[in-house]
Order: sequence, then C-alpha cells, then structure tokens
Amino acid sequence: MNRQALNVAVIGLQFGMAHIEGAMGCGAEIAAICDCNEEHLRAAGDRYGIAEGKRYSDPRGLLGRDDIDAAVIAVPDQRHRELSCAFLGAGKHVLCEKPMALTREDTAAMIRAADSSGRQLMVGQICRFTPAFEKAKELVENGVLGDLYFVESEYAHDYMKLVDNWRADPLRHGVIGGGCHAVDLLRWLAGDPREVFAYGTHRLLPQVPYDDATVAVMKFDGETMGKVFVSTGCKRDYTMRTVLYGTRGTLICDNTSPTMTLFTAGEDGMAHEPEIIDVEVNNHNAVREFEAFAAAVQSGKPVPTDAREGARTVEVCLSIIESAKTGKPVRPDYGAF
Ligand SMILES: NC(=O)c1ccc[n+]([C@@H]2O[C@H](COP(=O)([O-])OP(=O)(O)OC[C@H]3O[C@@H](n4cnc5c(N)ncnc54)[C@H](O)[C@@H]3O)[C@@H](O)[C@H]2O)c1
Repeated sequence: MNRQALNVAVIGLQFGMAHIEGAMGCGAEIAAICDCNEEHLRAAGDRYGIAEGKRYSDPRGLLGRDDIDAAVIAVPDQRHRELSCAFLGAGKHVLCEKPMALTREDTAAMIRAADSSGRQLMVGQICRFTPAFEKAKELVENGVLGDLYFVESEYAHDYMKLVDNWRADPLRHGVIGGGCHAVDLLRWLAGDPREVFAYGTHRLLPQVPYDDATVAVMKFDGETMGKVFVSTGCKRDYTMRTVLYGTRGTLICDNTSPTMTLFTAGEDGMAHEPEIIDVEVNNHNAVREFEAFAAAVQSGKPVPTDAREGARTVEVCLSIIESAKTGKPVRPDYGAF
C-alpha cells in the first residue's frame, strides 16, 4: 500500500488542524486546505507550510480537482451533510467529523450519497482509536472480562467557554454533540442498545437551549445493561471514564488517564489484586484514525466506522434525547440502516 498516493483536502481548520497532523503523520499529501474564515485559513496554512495555491476559502473550488482523493470534513455539525454529499458526489472519499449529522434525515441522505458514489464515508468516532479504549476492546474480544453484564461511560466536558452559535443550536444537544463519543464507545464494545430511558437537567449552561446533563440507562441484547452520563457544564476536567463489568472481570479506564485497572477472577471466582495497565494518553488520536481511513480506501476494504455505523450512533443519541423529553423508554429504530 502506498500511503503517499493519498491526496487529501481538509475543510474546516479549527479541529481540522488535528486532521492535517493526522494525515501528515501517516504520510498522506495535503493537497488543499479550506476555511471560509480567512484568518483561520492563513493561520493553518502558515502553521503547516501549505502553499498559497492550495488554500481555499470556498469548498466548491475543490470539487472539480481530479488530484484530490479524499476530503476531511471538520466544519460545524450542521454542514456535515451538505459537504459530505458534495465531495462524495464529486468522487472523493470522505472522513467526516462526529457526530455524523444532527437529524435522521441528514444521516439517511449521507448513506444514500455514499452508496451511490461508490466512495467511502467514514465517520470520525475518534475514541475508537484512543489507546485505552483500543485495549478495552481487545480485552473484551479476548474474553478476559467474560460476558459483559453492565457497561458505563461518561462524557463530562465543561463547555462553558466552548459554546458558540452553532453549538447553541437546539439540534446540537450535548448528548449528540459530545455524548456521541460515549454512546459510540458503548455500541462498539457491547453492541446496539435495544431500549433507552433517560433523564435530563438544565442547571449549568443557561446559554444553551437544551439539557446540560443527561443520564441514560440502556438494555442491550442478552443480559447486558448500560449507562451513559453526559455533562456539558460539569465543574471538573474533561473525562470519559468508562467501566466494563463482565462475568470474569472488571475494567476501569479513561481516555485521560495513563493507567487502566483490571480486576479478574481466579479459579475460586474471587477477584484478585487489580492489575494496573499503563497506557498512552491520547484522546484525539488523529494519526491512527487517519491511518485506518487511508488503509481502507487504498485497499478497497470497508472503513471502520462507515455511514451506517455513524448513523446508528446518531440514532441512539436521538433516542436518548427523546426519552429525556417524553419521560418514556425509546427503542432506537435501526430499520433504515
Ligand atoms: N473528534 C473530536 O473529538 C472533535 C473535537 C472537536 C470538534 N469536533 C467536530 O469537528 C467539527 C468542527 O468543530 P470545531 O470545534 O473545529 O468547530 P469551530 O467552529 O471551532 O471551527 C469550524 C471551522 O470551520 C469553518 N467553516 C465553517 N463552515 C465552513 C464552510 N462551509 N466551508 C469552509 N469552512 C467552514 C469555520 O470558519 C471554522 O474555522 C464539528 O463537527 C465538531 O463536532 C470533533
């Protein structure tokens, strides 16, 4: 596989800068960068030494360029559908930021665009590349924890200084905006929840028109239960503490901690001294994420988080939001995917 051959355009140059670094970090060529804010365009271009001729203020200027293989879409969530569909329609592979979109209508349109383009759409659920969570997945798959009976993850991130116009859109509820990380992580580790029930409160962020804390319990297939807690006004450092309880062991991990704690049962069924596992802290592992995207599009194998996978995470988030509003359990509808 020749990674050098992948020519990439990165659109949206705030968090998008992590994608420039991710692409560069695994040998891809930055064929173009784009931002409608001239200052952001100049700052990113100067920082990464991107030639003037490769800097664009309008994404439409990139669509006709035959030398671009793939586009990274890192603009506000409300624009994911429009730009992903445009680049897929122009024959480019797309790595679109999470959440894939904010509505079912948008995720469905993006799935159709990916299917009809013959190109790949990957949703950047970057927590799947966090070293602690990759290790957790490995331990689950190797049966070290036995059968999972309870999984929980929290997304606690203080948005006090992060709220801007597009994040204050009622559609950009915290459960979908940031909480999609925790929801996607539990889906990846335990499968699709069949039913969710949620409560929400709104006490910390008056500048947003939605709950700033939500707790959801969920039922997976078999006897697995789960819980997601999302707080976007919390008074603490960012964390995605995640605990997996299995019939043979328990794992405590976090994308912001350099250690994970693993308890496993011995022959007698009793939990023994915990094992402390050292792990690299890298909660935005854009290099590994881009590497997985590039490897898939260059080999023709499916990307790890394709359009349907991204849409299922959005479906669960929307079900949680609906349950907290109605006070009723909601069964996510995966029928469309
Ligand atoms: N994976 C993660 O952990 C993570 C972290 C932060 C943000 N994100 C996601 O990344 C995306 C961008 O978030 P952000 O924090 O960088 O937002 P931001 O508002 O800070 O920056 C967005 C940038 O996109 C530019 N832009 C907006 N519309 C554009 C358009 N049509 N064409 C070209 N440029 C345009 C803006 O000028 C701005 O520079 C969002 O989808 C967000 O949810 C993901």
